[in-house]
Amino acid sequence: MADDKKTATLSFGGKTLDLPIYTPTLGPDVIDISKLYAQGDVFTYDPGFTSTAACESTITFIDGEEGVLLHRGYPIDQLAAESHYLEVCYLLLYGELPTGAQLEDFEARVTHHTMLHEQMRNFFSGFRRDAHPMAVMVGIVGAMSAFYHDSTDISDPWQREVASIRLIAKMPTIAAWAFKYHTGQPFVYPRNDLDYASNFLRMCFSVPAEEYEVNPILSRAMDRIFTLHADHEQNASTSTVRLASSSGANPFACIAAGIACLWGPAHGGANQACLEMLKEIGTVDRIPEFIARAKDKNDPFRLMGFGHRVYKNFDPRATVMKQSADEVLELLGVEDNPILQVAKELEKQALADPYFHDKKLFPNVDFYSGIILEAMGFPTSMFTPIFAVSRTVGWISQWKEMLNDPAQRIGRPRQLYVGAEKRDYVDVENR
Ligand code: SDX
Repeated sequence: MADDKKTATLSFGGKTLDLPIYTPTLGPDVIDISKLYAQGDVFTYDPGFTSTAACESTITFIDGEEGVLLHRGYPIDQLAAESHYLEVCYLLLYGELPTGAQLEDFEARVTHHTMLHEQMRNFFSGFRRDAHPMAVMVGIVGAMSAFYHDSTDISDPWQREVASIRLIAKMPTIAAWAFKYHTGQPFVYPRNDLDYASNFLRMCFSVPAEEYEVNPILSRAMDRIFTLHADHEQNASTSTVRLASSSGANPFACIAAGIACLWGPAHGGANQACLEMLKEIGTVDRIPEFIARAKDKNDPFRLMGFGHRVYKNFDPRATVMKQSADEVLELLGVEDNPILQVAKELEKQALADPYFHDKKLFPNVDFYSGIILEAMGFPTSMFTPIFAVSRTVGWISQWKEMLNDPAQRIGRPRQLYVGAEKRDYVDVENR
């Protein structure tokens, strides 16, 4: 933490406190308020943490005004164009781009951990066939704590490393098997001769009745979607993983908590909600009706895939995703996909509307990802599980960073209590 001996002076109630200011590598300065309660007997109040830095991190930097997203300093658009998901995983986990030998070793380790403990197959059959795949993923990942005891001791660096590789490697298998269970088709085992994205597509779409050839265009698009969703600073699900981990919970339980949080439609569930919204709009002529609803304070409807807590200009991932959507749909010969036409016209009309412009509401990563995933043959229920597969490396990287931070302690926010004053119990006959 850069410490320039700058301070912020806070005066209230006859007290004056000098609070340290730290200057980051990039982004706004931070005021250290950790001693505020001890010295000033007051709390700060910041519901939703709009102005609160919860930790020090070296992994991802976002500039919401400029639409910048860096992973260990590398811009997301360069990584999406030049790199691939497992190389980005290495970068996020270890801090530097790997040498050829390091990458080969890492990919081999991930490849050889893609199978699930065979007895875990039984867990899937405990769910209803129509269970949402996210419900299955939360259950299966949490249950990994019961199968991989040799990688649950977070005080052992080797066990932390093994748990990291196991989670990154097994998430595609878990997501694919959740999909197969939902459809009633047999599980497909991973193959060691396929790359990460191709393996996932094959586990999702191949059936025993015929040979399955991975379409390289879809595999590249799948890998790019994984890359674009890999990490995103201290978003809700990552903060959930950090808070769960701060109690010393095992990595599988913490990642299951992250999956549960990601499921929400305001967060990772927005890609499913966005496509369902585009289908509900259906045709370009109905767009004004939905834009009016999104602007109506009395209508809870929001444009899914629009807006972001941090990006107030544009989401750089959405820009790359939009290019990818055009490429994939053209290559699949569905460039005149009516949903894509609605999405493009909706974006155009919303961005021309002062309401969205003034409130800095722009398409986010979820706006176009669903269109690509649908074109690839995924049902909307699989959109957020795919987001979870990708974000696992981000959760794990942030989890490792937190465990290695000597300043880390159990997360325990306080509150602004506005409830009843102290009062005595009243017997039921006297109420
Ligand atoms: C992700 O944090 C991350 O990094 C998340 C993520 C990641 O990679 O981890 O980027 C992934 O979660 C992307 C966001 C996906 N969610 C959606 O697309 C759902 C739709 N968007 C919104 O629900 C909303 O924009 C949020 C949740 C994304 C952000 O909410 P904020 O920052 O708390 O903003 P807000 O709810 O306070 O809204 C500010 C104003 C409000 O109007 P006023 O009360 O000021 O009059 O903007 C309005 C809102 O009503 N508004 C919208 C809107 N989003 C906000 N109005 C219409 N449509 C929308 N989508």
